[in-house]
Amino acid sequence: MSNILTEHGITLWDEEKIKRFRTTLLNWYDTHKRDLPWRRTNNPYAIWVSEIMLQQTQVITVIPYYKKFMATFPSIQDLANAPEDVLLKTWEGLGYYSRVRNMQSAAQQIVAHYNGQMPNTIEHIRTLKGIGPYTAGAIASIAFNLPEPAIDGNVMRVMARLFEINLDIANPKNRKVFDYLMRQLIDPTRPGDFNQALMDLGSDICSAKNPKPELSPIKEFNAAYQNGTMSIYPIKEKKKKATDVFYTAYVIQDKNGAFLMQQRNNKGLLANMWQFPMIERKPVNSLSEESTPYHILHQQEALGSITHLFSHLKWHVYLVPIQDSTFEGTWIHPKDFHKYPMGAPQLKLFDLLKQTNFKKN
Ligand code: ADE
Repeated sequence: MSNILTEHGITLWDEEKIKRFRTTLLNWYDTHKRDLPWRRTNNPYAIWVSEIMLQQTQVITVIPYYKKFMATFPSIQDLANAPEDVLLKTWEGLGYYSRVRNMQSAAQQIVAHYNGQMPNTIEHIRTLKGIGPYTAGAIASIAFNLPEPAIDGNVMRVMARLFEINLDIANPKNRKVFDYLMRQLIDPTRPGDFNQALMDLGSDICSAKNPKPELSPIKEFNAAYQNGTMSIYPIKEKKKKATDVFYTAYVIQDKNGAFLMQQRNNKGLLANMWQFPMIERKPVNSLSEESTPYHILHQQEALGSITHLFSHLKWHVYLVPIQDSTFEGTWIHPKDFHKYPMGAPQLKLFDLLKQTNFKKN
């Protein structure tokens, strides 16, 4: 038999073993599954929201955001009609804001084309803005019980270990191999639970850094564990290092306690979000940058600095108080912060400011 699996040196189990695997995994899920708020509902919209939040964010961080989001926008219609500042405020601190902007566009698509109801086929779900193969598979299987795989890094890691797969899981070209494999394995009667069981396994027992294969309910199926090759799998090429960018952010406060703030451009990173006036600066010496105090580098007193890692950029931001400036901007008092969405670097700068007992003029 020649197929996409044998081409890549993967030997699929026989039908009896596949069935045993499904039963073993689902029995374990039934007794060990995490009690998560989005597992207490069948509402496809709620499941969609949770899956978008969980894409780049850990479960523990997502839970309060999910609850707040569902309370603020209980329906697809509410999301479609939300004002941008309220929308961004509800997402503030979660990062990757295009996720929520796309979700709003998709909600508007659903209102316009599907009468406000989440579509219930994989083809239609895939047409929605911001919904890629992973999210479509997760929604289709969890909300609609369709036998669709939901393949993310966790699932690929579990599969790579089970079958000793010699493919780079970071290379998107290899996804189709995992997709094919998962379609053979997925339980046709409980696909949503099957997928979520793999997610739970991947987040703990089969984690990337600290796996505990001896505790795994499916260790008898785990070729890498049986053969002592756990340290090899999954194969994953290192990501390129993020590019360093250096800024100075200026704290300017009036006698009423309001801060001078600027709104970012409406395109790109942290679009439309609010921050202190910032100027990009050159690293004096990239090697010493992290360890050299700002005032030694610049003869200007800084309160401190923060760093923030985005997917491709690492920001290094010095925080410098100044009295007078020619910056333009909007004076915003802390009591009004709830109206102004701010990105993680700005929130870190406020934390830093608090720690330094910064006193206004
Ligand atoms: N990660 C992504 N989707 C998840 C889900 N439904 N449950 C737990 N972790 C997840």
